[in-house]
Amino acid sequence: MDKKEFARRRKRLMDMVNHGGIAIQPTAPERIRNRDIYYPFRPDSDFFYLTGFPEPEAVLVLVPDRPQGECVLFCREKNAEAETWHGTRHGLEGACELYGADDAFPISDMDDILPGLLENRGRIYYTMGRYQDFDQRLVGWLNQISNKSRAGVHAPDQFNSLAHYVHEMRLYKSREEIKTMRRSAQIASAGHRRAMQICQPGLYEYQIEAELLHSFVQQGARSPAYPCIVGGGANSCILHYTENNDLLRDGDLLLVDAGAELENYASDVSRTYPVNGRFTPEQRAIYEIVLEAQFAAIAAVRPGNSWNDPHEAAVEVITKGLVDVGILKGRWRTMLRDEAYRPYYMHRTSHWLGMDVHDVGEYKVGDEWRMFEPGMVTTVEPGLYLSPALKGLAKRWWNIGIRIEDDVLVTADGHEVLSAGAPKTVEDIEMTMRQAGRA
Ligand code: GLY
Ligand code: MN
Ligand code: MN
Repeated sequence: MDKKEFARRRKRLMDMVNHGGIAIQPTAPERIRNRDIYYPFRPDSDFFYLTGFPEPEAVLVLVPDRPQGECVLFCREKNAEAETWHGTRHGLEGACELYGADDAFPISDMDDILPGLLENRGRIYYTMGRYQDFDQRLVGWLNQISNKSRAGVHAPDQFNSLAHYVHEMRLYKSREEIKTMRRSAQIASAGHRRAMQICQPGLYEYQIEAELLHSFVQQGARSPAYPCIVGGGANSCILHYTENNDLLRDGDLLLVDAGAELENYASDVSRTYPVNGRFTPEQRAIYEIVLEAQFAAIAAVRPGNSWNDPHEAAVEVITKGLVDVGILKGRWRTMLRDEAYRPYYMHRTSHWLGMDVHDVGEYKVGDEWRMFEPGMVTTVEPGLYLSPALKGLAKRWWNIGIRIEDDVLVTADGHEVLSAGAPKTVEDIEMTMRQAGRA
């Protein structure tokens, strides 16, 4: 992403923080996986959104009107030996030259320098409760300043949530962000297509996962956006199933929920298909209900509609469909009013999507559902989960778990489905699987 874009974001935030304020945003800590092995480092999304700085041990401080420089980055210094072992560091110079900081300090000097930046500022903008170690250090620095009050120094006495401001910005994706998200969704879609093509009875769920991961990494997305969900048969009815270690059986359905992470932007895509490449009449009947619900929900994603409209469109189709096939008995309007679909469809239809899979941004403004505006990206993911544990459910419906999930950008005149490359009609799925020599 262009360096200027990060500078624009900081400038916008700086204008909100304004004279007399100070904003502090640390990146994520490195986390140990076991003994001396760390998880791959992933920056904090808010920190990365404002800096593009990829290294751990870094803190952004925005100090409007500071004469020596308003944008301050604390980061690791260059260190030849550490860099030989662990890779290059940008150092203080890199922080300024490559990442646009006005001033950079060693992270090891933060205890000495940051209190000075906080002195005599009235308002602090910081996200409390995300990193407890950092919260405590901040409280320590503030106490330190308060203790100097007789010297005429005062500590900020107004606390504001930085997340509130940054998350509102992150909800509206820029042209550059949309390009990255489109690519992320294309990578996921291509992975789903490949997974569909290799799927056959006798494979294990993890072999489908392997195909997805292989495809993502080959296309430059080094990590999935969340652990892949690959559930065959009964496992398709477990919403967040990630064991992925069962055999795929002839006659079963397979639910795959897998998204790529590209340059810290997530895609989130689900497809469901028959292990052997051909839907049974029961599987097809339920699949067509979910698909119709998904089309109706996607059609409701447009400016002028609210975030809740796709969900309402989806549950209406799902309720009618369940009545039509005889799983729900009664009048569909009554069933809809009573939310009779809930044992079969227990999650919502959408969530915001961006750097985080379940992305930031409020869903309501005051008491009202938020209206869609161009640049927002939402998932649309209705499902039906017909588990044998459901009371009175006829055996022929058992273990049909279906979710169809796409990533949808709100445009000026409607929407764009970013993940349209993954087959999803019955005909397209069966053809894709047949062409691959299956079924
Ligand atoms: N993959 C999690 C979700 O669909 O929300
Ligand atoms: Mn998903
Ligand atoms: Mn989702």
